[in-house]
Amino acid sequence: MSLFITFEGPDGCGKTTQARLLAEYLESRGVPVLLTREPGGTPISEQIRQVLLSTRNLAMRAETEALLFSAARAQIVTELIRPALAAGKIVLCDRYADSTLAYQGYGLGLDLDLLRAITRFATGGLAPDLTFYVDVPAEIGLARRQRGKTNRLDQKDVEYHARVRAGYLELARAEPQRWVVVDGTRSVQVVQREIRARMLDEIEKRRNATAHRGAAHD
Ligand code: TYD
Repeated sequence: MSLFITFEGPDGCGKTTQARLLAEYLESRGVPVLLTREPGGTPISEQIRQVLLSTRNLAMRAETEALLFSAARAQIVTELIRPALAAGKIVLCDRYADSTLAYQGYGLGLDLDLLRAITRFATGGLAPDLTFYVDVPAEIGLARRQRGKTNRLDQKDVEYHARVRAGYLELARAEPQRWVVVDGTRSVQVVQREIRARMLDEIEKRRNATAHRGAAHD
């Protein structure tokens, strides 16, 4: 059974660790899984990532940024994500289109409906089945990073990150059937346990729905 799960959250929220631990858990149980990340995941998308992160590109406009993230997404969707889902894998993606709404929309002030249209174009309408939002206050996330202002996107201030977080919470409230909000200020193990349980619930729900549909046809 294929399933498309994304991980979202402010910088430093710990979602990358959580995605990796969930992938390891699934693999250890013999479940076919693809773990990938945005921006990146394919050679073309990784090259776009370099352009986005380079401190040589401080003059980058918000529109350029949104289109580059979306361009990288178009590539990973067709090259990696859709084929993996077609092969029946569980796909775990560290960031996806909701990052564009949160960062370029709520963070930089670009029009959300326009960003949604660009996203539909880039992804062909592929939306996640489940999104884990690992929530931490902006200050905590930024302090956790402790790696200094090493790339262009690290240069944004705490107010920007606070708008991003508020945006995420609004997105999660608007679509509660897809989003699972997880308190990321707790220990890695506790957060992982919650994520695992919610994912297993979701798989169970889908299995039951499929079984019911099958029974209805009998
Ligand atoms: P990365 O180093 O991968 O950070 P993280 O571990 O927090 O995911 O850099 C990704 C950065 O790009 C991060 O600051 C969020 C930002 N981003 C956007 O602004 N828009 C997007 O659409 C995506 C996918 C990421």
